[in-house]
Amino acid sequence: MKKVLAIAGSDPSGGAGIQADIKTISAHAMYAMSVETALTVQNTMGVYEVIGLPADFVKKQLECVLDDIPPDAIKIGMLFSSDIVDCITKVLGKFGMKNIVLDPVMISTSGKRLLDKTAENALIDKLFPLSDLITPNIHEAEKISGMIINSLEDMKKAAVLISRFCKGGVLVKGGHFGNCTDVLYFENQFFVFEGERIDNPNTHGTGCTLSSAIACNLAAGRNLPESVMLAKEYVTGAIKAMLDIGKGRGPLNHFWKLK
Ligand SMILES: Nc1ncnc2c1ncn2[C@@H]1O[C@H](COP(=O)(O)OP(=O)(O)OP(=O)(O)O)[C@@H](O)[C@H]1O
Ligand SMILES: [Mg+2]
Repeated sequence: MKKVLAIAGSDPSGGAGIQADIKTISAHAMYAMSVETALTVQNTMGVYEVIGLPADFVKKQLECVLDDIPPDAIKIGMLFSSDIVDCITKVLGKFGMKNIVLDPVMISTSGKRLLDKTAENALIDKLFPLSDLITPNIHEAEKISGMIINSLEDMKKAAVLISRFCKGGVLVKGGHFGNCTDVLYFENQFFVFEGERIDNPNTHGTGCTLSSAIACNLAAGRNLPESVMLAKEYVTGAIKAMLDIGKGRGPLNHFWKLK
């Protein structure tokens, strides 16, 4: 059984964060492990409070897991503080981990800051060079690249600018834009994953779900463009399943293929 580790924050309402990662990995029939970085007070209507765990405790969780069960891929989500970024960088470097997908979660859709200011720079300087793929949404891509994105061509330009900080691919996600087309820049080539915007307000955790699904496909031995293509199909199906839970922006149906 392939093993996939998620390093991220907890969403007690179960739609995003560690909970979405574990559901996604399980739906791919893989063994899910999780290292928590932060706890949130959150539901489908918003993120209300965030507490970061002590960096040393996060480090111990990660070392303890890696010592025992080496994962075939790792998905990294919310990291909260620069101390946590530092310790994760050190431990992943020490263990020589591969197939790392980094979702550079910065601000929640409801506007809550999920990464402090100094941690943003630490993430770019330290973790981008270690990761096989970075998956910014439009807002994060604008922040990291320093340019405004208004078109598919802009998404491509931003991906190239961001790739200067990376060793692997850059996937600029278009969920907040037009017809949800995502753009991958990898090994000097563009791969455009045409989307279809599904008219469903319940899209809580799409980003977490996509990055975990990519990690699962990498764990299965697929190449990066194929992994992104299959992960996008998975997320599209999970939105199309039209689950409607909660009073706000509800979760996806991670188990839509089990019906
Ligand atoms: N309404 C939708 N219909 C189809 N695909 C969507 C929709 N919303 C998002 N997606 C897809 O979901 C994936 C995640 O993209 P998105 O831009 O929403 O990430 P995100 O903003 O990081 O998500 P999150 O809000 O969970 O952090 C992408 O593949 C995107 O194209
Ligand atoms: Mg996101």
